[in-house]
Order: sequence, then structure tokens, then C-alpha cells
Amino acid sequence: MKEKINNLISKEKNMKEKIIAIVNQKGGVGKTTTTINLGTELAKHHKNVLLVDFDPQGSLSIGLGVRDEEIPSMSELMLAEMNDQELPEKKNIVLELDYVDLIPANITLSAVEISLINTTCREMILKNILQKYKKGYDYILVDCGPSLGMLTVNALTAADSVLIPASAEFLSAKGLEQLLGSVAKTKRKLNPELQIEGILFTMVQEQTRLAKEMINMVQKAYGKLNIYDVRIPRSIDVGTAIRQGKTIREFNHKNKAAEAYQQLAKEVLKHE
Ligand SMILES: Nc1ncnc2c1ncn2[C@@H]1O[C@H](COP(=O)(O)OP(=O)(O)O)[C@@H](O)[C@H]1O
Ligand SMILES: [Mg+2]
Repeated sequence: MKEKINNLISKEKNMKEKIIAIVNQKGGVGKTTTTINLGTELAKHHKNVLLVDFDPQGSLSIGLGVRDEEIPSMSELMLAEMNDQELPEKKNIVLELDYVDLIPANITLSAVEISLINTTCREMILKNILQKYKKGYDYILVDCGPSLGMLTVNALTAADSVLIPASAEFLSAKGLEQLLGSVAKTKRKLNPELQIEGILFTMVQEQTRLAKEMINMVQKAYGKLNIYDVRIPRSIDVGTAIRQGKTIREFNHKNKAAEAYQQLAKEVLKHE
């Protein structure tokens, strides 16, 4: 709540809200972890932050302690927008947590993805939804699921930029190429302003040769893109923190990954 008051200060600057899609079609690369920890760190810099769960697995919602499947969630918003119905008032859908706000999601979102196929302007649904709720936020982080399907295309269409967490050890050149291909296609056809916010190496164990080789490969092939200087180290505390509904900094502020996420927030802010 204290943070919320501080957040009012940033509104005076009249900054445009920025929507960042957190995307990688691979699961388990740190998308949700990055959404939670980056979002909270941005809030600690007095930014007003909305986190959007856009993965039918609902890991972001669960990680933030929202387990109730009965509450209104992203599926209701999607269905309302798809059927040209009025969207609910912000207070009836956006949850106010300690540092950030959240639009939750759950498994019902997977059925919505299927019905999107027969919807007109099916790529624009999330963009239209966020149009209603984004006002007053500095950052909106959209946590995507592990696919390049219709939901992710919606996120890419709604976003100003894309942040790509890539697990250094399991990074595949082909996967990254496919992902950047999808980004390029969305930019060409649907969202000409779309930018790559940056590539973030996650779960890095510096000492392994494989990780070093993969990072070198990406730097060589995609050096023109922003690759964050900071890398998120692998640490068992990261998973433990999430399971306890905490950010890594709350769980153990001396942890190297906690420091790394603070650094990441600074790099993202510099990009403004
Ligand atoms: N830096 C890290 N070190 C160790 N484990 C991590 C780290 N980041 C994420 N994890 C763990 O890896 C798993 C996948 O992370 P998650 O953020 O859910 O990935 P995604 O959203 O891409 O599927 C989770 O169990 C999470 O706790
Ligand atoms: Mg996830």
C-alpha cells in the first residue's frame, strides 16, 4: 500500500504506459519468474505495474497466491471482447496485490484459445482489452504460455515490446529463430511499432561450457538486439520463493538472483 502511494508520484510525469510481452515458446525458461520479480522490482522504483497472466496454466496467478478458479479472470475478458460485450469495471477484474496489480488466468483460457480461431480480428482481442485497463500504469507485463499460438500472437499484437527469457543451457538456436520469426511477422502484419525489449539469459551457471557456448552463439547471431548485461543465475531459492508466494528478494535479499533481478529492473528503466 505504501508503494501504491509512492506510485502516484510517477503519474505526474505523464509517461505513456508500456506493454511488455514476456515470451518464449519453450516452457520452464523463467518467463513467469521474470514477470513476478521484474514486475515487483519496477514497483519498488515507484512504477505502477500491472501483471497480466496470459498462460492457461495460470502459473503467474498461482505464484502470486491467487488460487481461486471461481473469480473473474482473463477468460471472461476474452469472451466478452470476442462477443462484443461490455468489459467489466476495473475493480471487478484487476486484483490489487502488495506491490503490483494482477489480471489472473486459469485453465479456462485454453478453451478460449480454441474459440479464437473463429473470431473476427482474432489477433486484436487482448489489445482491445488492455486498452480499457492500461490507463494509469507505467508497465504492463504479459506473462505468456509456452507456445507461439493464438494467445501469444495476441500478446505480441498488444505489446510495445518483447522480453525474451532464454535459459542458457537449453537454449536452441532454432527455437530462438522461430520466436524472432513470429515477432517479425507480427510486426509486419499487425503491430508495426513492436520492438524487441531484450534477450535475458536465465538460470545461468556460468561455469558450464555449454552455457558459455550458447551465450556466445546468441551474441554472435543476434548482437544487434539488446541482450541484457545482467544474467539471472541459477539458484534453488528462486523456486522455493515462488512456492512460498514471495519474490526472490523477499525470500533472501542476499541471493545472487535477487540482485540480478534488481539489476534487470534498472536496465529496463534505462531503456525508457
Ligand atoms: N534463476 C532460476 N534458478 C533456479 N530455478 C529457476 C530460476 N528461474 C526459474 N526457476 C524455476 O524453473 C521453473 C520454470 O520457471 P518459470 O518461470 O515457471 O518458467 P516458464 O514461465 O518459462 O515456464 C520453476 O520451477 C522456477 O521456480
Ligand atoms: Mg510460465
